[in-house]
Amino acid sequence: MAGAAQSWGSGGLDGRAAELRRRYPCVADLEQLARRRIPRFAYDFVAGGVGGDHGLRRNRAALDAVQLVPRYGRDVTRIETGVTLFGRDYALPVGVAPMGLAGLAWPGIDEILAAAAQRARIPYVSSTVANAPIERLAALAPDVFWFQLYGLPGDDHAVSLELVRRAERAGAHVLVLTMDVPARQKREGDVRNGLAVPFRPRLRTVLDVLRAPRWGLEVLRRGQPRFENFCSYVPAPASTASLAGYTYHKMAGPLTWEAVARLREAWPRALVVKGILHPEDAERAVRLGVDGVLVSNHGGRQSDAAPASIDALPAIAARVAGRATLLLDSGVRCGLDVLRALALGADAVLAGRAFLYGGAALGAPGADHVAALFREEIRGAMALGGVTEPAALRETLALHPGAIRFPAAPRPALAETA
Ligand SMILES: Cc1cc2nc3c(=O)[nH]c(=O)nc-3n(C[C@H](O)[C@H](O)[C@H](O)COP(=O)(O)O)c2cc1C
Repeated sequence: MAGAAQSWGSGGLDGRAAELRRRYPCVADLEQLARRRIPRFAYDFVAGGVGGDHGLRRNRAALDAVQLVPRYGRDVTRIETGVTLFGRDYALPVGVAPMGLAGLAWPGIDEILAAAAQRARIPYVSSTVANAPIERLAALAPDVFWFQLYGLPGDDHAVSLELVRRAERAGAHVLVLTMDVPARQKREGDVRNGLAVPFRPRLRTVLDVLRAPRWGLEVLRRGQPRFENFCSYVPAPASTASLAGYTYHKMAGPLTWEAVARLREAWPRALVVKGILHPEDAERAVRLGVDGVLVSNHGGRQSDAAPASIDALPAIAARVAGRATLLLDSGVRCGLDVLRALALGADAVLAGRAFLYGGAALGAPGADHVAALFREEIRGAMALGGVTEPAALRETLALHPGAIRFPAAPRPALAETA
């Protein structure tokens, strides 16, 4: 009985993991710690959205509004949380979303998150504008490595195609095309904070850094975060400034459906489009041979007027069910959020800031802890739902007041039928 009581108290964990669970029982606790540990402008960059942060708040409110009706009396002693995505097995239906310039949250965080994802055996999606090169991150996460691509339309997509070849050589299992950045958006918080790469110290930013000395020392030790994937495309020796300039000028412009069709031909493995919110766009992607659709509003960072991705999900699921793997991100902070998405038709979700907060708060143990929190919360919520495997969550009765009703019979777009 003492053993049972102990495992009740610690969630069945030992040592350091149990200690972390006791001190930081949910992601919000890690966010608070991260907030204290990093400069204000870095926290604002990570946590903020665009405009008045309405899209950001809408994600949270919409997820909270989804109710799952529990089912009791079933045998849930053996719960299996694993999922198969694009032919590979993962331990949980949640992975790490791509995050560019994440090194601002904590120097070296790309490596921290990649290695944590590999240990937890959950998908890790590396950003085009990661602060570590594709090859290094792929080596840290060989079983779970996915690569995200932004549009670099210049020179007839030469650099995009080169990045795709590098990702393939490095062993990426999935290529994720981000569709929801057709143009750079003004993020007012970052403008106000004078956020720029390379970092140009102003009195306020210097004071910010002085209040976060560990962060400042790490930056001094490792150097400012750079867009490492572009090193071979700028004159040697690459500098933070030349890489930032290159990124600013080249990574501008949409990924059009024509580009998706070309990338489909160039990429032999699973292909996902990210940032989809309209069922017609999902349909179009599937018709182009895409394997997966990631329903996302970029964590509220692109359009302040975009709907919450969870509200767009059911209509997209209804439209492409059975023809594409469905993923969701934007606002996911806990196991219940994962279940909400799965009950409404997703096969798995990604979380961005949740993992970033863990890594920024506590380094590698913090990133491991976020995966452990998801694992524990997913299992607990599955037990309440009376299901023993993620696929069975589709049977869960979900009440979803915000679900968007898209027009039932949209007119086909002309270009689409061509
Ligand atoms: C700091 C930060 C950087 C991001 N950079 C990228 C990126 O480079 N490519 C991309 O497709 N999405 C990027 N995103 C969006 C995430 O992939 C994801 O859609 C979003 O974070 C999900 O919302 P969540 O943070 O609430 O989980 C970024 C998000 C954050 C917070």
